[in-house]
Amino acid sequence: MSKQVQSRRLTVPEIAQRKGGEKIVCLTAYTAPMAALLDPHVDLLLVGDSVGMVLHGLPTTVGVTLEMMILHGQAVMRGAAHALVVVDLPFGTYERSPLQAHESAVRIMRETGCQAVKVEAGEGIAETIAFLVQRGIPVVGHVGLRPQAAHVEGGFKAKGRTAAERARVLAEAQAADRAGAFALVVEGVASDLADEVTRAVASPTIGIGASPGCDGQILVTDDMLGLFDWTPKFVRRYGKLREVIADAVAAYAKDVRDGQFPGEAELYKLRAR
Ligand code: KIV
Repeated sequence: MSKQVQSRRLTVPEIAQRKGGEKIVCLTAYTAPMAALLDPHVDLLLVGDSVGMVLHGLPTTVGVTLEMMILHGQAVMRGAAHALVVVDLPFGTYERSPLQAHESAVRIMRETGCQAVKVEAGEGIAETIAFLVQRGIPVVGHVGLRPQAAHVEGGFKAKGRTAAERARVLAEAQAADRAGAFALVVEGVASDLADEVTRAVASPTIGIGASPGCDGQILVTDDMLGLFDWTPKFVRRYGKLREVIADAVAAYAKDVRDGQFPGEAELYKLRAR
């Protein structure tokens, strides 16, 4: 038998069991080469509908389609061998009914091979989460700041300013948890509210703009690598790729203009036979 080490993907139960234990490290990924770079370091890769804003230049996630999510999900699955891969159900593909959500989720799971889907868990979505979970589709819920609701909210606004808002976020998290979501993304909420949510639910919470008390953390990879000149307050930049890319491209442009590229080392010298 070969002694080759088989890389094995983390499973949904393995992530769910991390509640209160080892922190869950998560990042977004949209392409195969980036997924391959991130995969050895993270537990969960999210093919987020943020892909619409990050890669496609859309103003919100509302324009993202099922086809886009499937294409990027397939790419990430090709690049990653270890992390659990979760793909977002985009706006308009799951809210109408549990049946609509089931159809969309089945397409995503069949056509990408990913292990779970994520839904923004506003009021009334618990029934859909339960419907999916009962039919073999693991679900991550997303509460707090819900980017797909940007037009209703008048922008991307952090939650937790009023008692009513805090009660609503807590209730939505508890409903998604009771419905069977195996993890909850908690985005853009007051840190003490994120802690309260984390204590109130059985599933692990994954914070973004939330609290270190969450069971895991996620960031948009392109934000944390420093690819944008503006990032939200909650992003810590672990890299300066914008500068690195600008310097590299400027050097390439100069070499081309000066006739310095390609050089001897980059030329084919083929002899006729
Ligand atoms: O779409 C996305 O990338 C997300 C993360 C910000 C959690 O939902």
